[in-house]
Amino acid sequence: MDTHLAQRRPVNLSKVERSLLWTLYQRVLDFRDPDPLLGDVWAVDTFDRLEVDLRDLRGASVDRYLTLLRARKIDSWVREWSSRNPEGTVVHMGCGLDSRALRVGAPRRGHWFDVDLPAVVELRRGLLPEPDRYQLVPGSLADADWLARLPADTPVLAVAESVAEFVRVDDLRRFLEHVTSQATAGGEIVFDIVSSWAGRLALTFRWELHTMEDSLLPERWCPGVRLVQEYEVAGDHALLPEGPHRDIYRALSRWPSTRSVMRVLRYTF
Ligand SMILES: C[S@@+](CC[C@H](N)C(=O)[O-])C[C@H]1O[C@@H](n2cnc3c(N)ncnc32)[C@H](O)[C@@H]1O
Repeated sequence: MDTHLAQRRPVNLSKVERSLLWTLYQRVLDFRDPDPLLGDVWAVDTFDRLEVDLRDLRGASVDRYLTLLRARKIDSWVREWSSRNPEGTVVHMGCGLDSRALRVGAPRRGHWFDVDLPAVVELRRGLLPEPDRYQLVPGSLADADWLARLPADTPVLAVAESVAEFVRVDDLRRFLEHVTSQATAGGEIVFDIVSSWAGRLALTFRWELHTMEDSLLPERWCPGVRLVQEYEVAGDHALLPEGPHRDIYRALSRWPSTRSVMRVLRYTF
C-alpha cells in the first residue's frame, strides 16, 4: 500500500462539521487555477492528508467563487483590522480546516484563536502548523466557555465565515452577545449570510442552510453594534476569469434580490 495514503486521516465528522471539506476543496481547486484568487498552499497540503471520497464533493459548482471571493474579502478585512490593532485578538469561529491564521497572520503583538467544535479541533490538530500567539480551542459559538481564554482589555475581531448558515439564528445572536459583552475594549464582528432563495436552492442539492435577510438585526440584538460594511459577493464578478461563472455572477448582480445571494457583513461595537 502507498505509505502516504496509509497515513491519511479519516474524517469522522457530523454532516454539518463535514461542510468544512467543501470550502477546503474550493481552496484546493483555486490553488490549481493559473490565476488563483487565494493561492492557499496550506489547503492543498491539508487536503492531501485526509481520507476524502471525492464523490462527496461533487455537486453544483456555481457557488465555488462565492466561497473564494468571500474568503478573499474577509482576509483583506482581517489584515486591515490587525494592522490598525496590533495588540488585538482575532477569534476565528468555526475555523474548520481553514489556514487563515497562516495566510494573514495574527496582529503583530496580539493573539489568534481558532475555535471549532471538538471533533473538528481533534481532526485539525497536527494537520496545520500552529504559529506563535496562536491557540486552537474546542468550543461552540453558542456557548461562552472559550471566552474565558481571551486576553482582557484588548480589542477583538470575531470572524465566523460560512458558519451562520449552519446554526440557528438564536445561536448567532448569543455569539454576538457574548463577544460584545466580553470585549470591553470594543472591536468588530464579521460573518456572512445567504438569502432565503439561495437557502432553498442549497437544500435541493446539498445542505439545509439557515438564512437571514435583515443585516440590521444585530444592531437590535446588541446595543452599540453598528453595521459598517456589507459586501455583496456576486457583485465582485470582475475578479473572476472570463467564462460562464463570471457571466452567471454578472447576471446575478443585476437585481438587488439576486445580488444579495451571499453577503459578508461587518459590524463595529
Ligand atoms: C462550511 S464550514 C466553514 C469552515 C471554515 N470557516 C471555512 O471557511 O473553511 C462550517 C464550519 O462551522 C463549524 N460549526 C458548525 N456549527 C458550529 C458551532 N455551533 N460552533 C462553532 N462552529 C460550528 C463546522 O464545524 C465547520 O467547521
